[in-house]
Amino acid sequence: MDRRRLYRLLDPDSADRSARTFRLVHHTAVVAGIGIMMAVTVGPMEAAYELSLAIAFAIVAAFFVVEYVLRLIASPEKPGSDHYGPWQARLVWAVSFSGLFDLLCALPGVIALFEWHAATIHGGIWMFKFIRYSPGLASLRRVVGNARDALLSVLLGFCIVLVVAATLAYLLERDVNPRDFGSIPNALWWAIVTLTTTGYGDVVPLTIGGRMLAGTVMVSGILVFALWAGILASGYAEESRRREFLRTWDLVAKVPFFHNIGAPLIAEVARLLRPREYQSGATIVRRGEQGDCMFFVVEGEVEVQIQPEPVFLGAGQFFGELALLTRAPRNASVIATKPCWALALDIVDFHELLARQPELARVIHEEAIRRLGPDAPPLLVPVAAAMAAEGSG
Ligand code: CMP
Repeated sequence: MDRRRLYRLLDPDSADRSARTFRLVHHTAVVAGIGIMMAVTVGPMEAAYELSLAIAFAIVAAFFVVEYVLRLIASPEKPGSDHYGPWQARLVWAVSFSGLFDLLCALPGVIALFEWHAATIHGGIWMFKFIRYSPGLASLRRVVGNARDALLSVLLGFCIVLVVAATLAYLLERDVNPRDFGSIPNALWWAIVTLTTTGYGDVVPLTIGGRMLAGTVMVSGILVFALWAGILASGYAEESRRREFLRTWDLVAKVPFFHNIGAPLIAEVARLLRPREYQSGATIVRRGEQGDCMFFVVEGEVEVQIQPEPVFLGAGQFFGELALLTRAPRNASVIATKPCWALALDIVDFHELLARQPELARVIHEEAIRRLGPDAPPLLVPVAAAMAAEGSG
């Protein structure tokens, strides 16, 4: 296998069938590794299945050693490595965070050669392997980074309430309950448990004042966590919108159809389009259905199943516009003949965009008329209106 194919095989974003199979094996290995680590700590299970557990652990650990070696071999193909020689690129990857982490994950395999029991506990590190495959988790780090100031302010509020609550509890309770509230550090334990609403019930205030204070602290705790959750949730939503926008922007910029519309318009179009991935053989559009969106092909190829000969459309071409323009059902099924990336444009955005972009409207309109042939039904008004607006402008 050449290096480029090997890189695609290991690439978490690759849609190739072999890459998906690799991911399946990888995830199975992680789950099996964690399962074995847990099973080994259960005495009777370990005693009954020691040999099977040892063999299974050796297979999983060997898989991660092989994965490390393969990633090292493929690393010169990583984007941005072209200005290094192959060995220099490998060294750069080996000392990067991802390289060091994969090395750490390969270590249980080496330790298992000497003492497999000891190696199993190190297998816990494999759980983190999923992070590479979860863009959501990776972006959580960025979310926390972006919302740092807001989170720190809430944390400060939390600390203030904590110290004030512990001090007041000490003043109110120290005489009736000197064991639990005899000092502020002692009262801090009660304040933390109450503020986080964990409430073990091991330390409880006895005075009326102490109980009123406890109620206030509990409500403050709920407020603090609600604030934290709100900040993280809105940061997370913002981050996913940003990621989605960048990904769509990349795809839009790849479509020759949009090449000469200029950066500001690409940004506008990117906001409206939704990336869709299709496996080879997937039906994208079914003949006879009502259409609610059209598609621009970014990568791959689709087959429009019309008589007498099917038509094949590739990168930069579009389909699904006829149902939107004529309001008739889809006039053909469209199937992906290769793994395919397309950008979907919803019917409402379609009419809005075409009304604002006469040039785009003209290209789509002309192609639609060509596709419909001589028996073309009348097309819907928005396109005609847009073209008329262009004519009068
Ligand atoms: P729609 O009718 O919405 O769904 C099926 C799509 O197939 C149709 O829109 C067109 O985009 C596309 N299509 C139909 N006929 C042709 C053709 N002759 N050449 C290319 N594409 C076509």
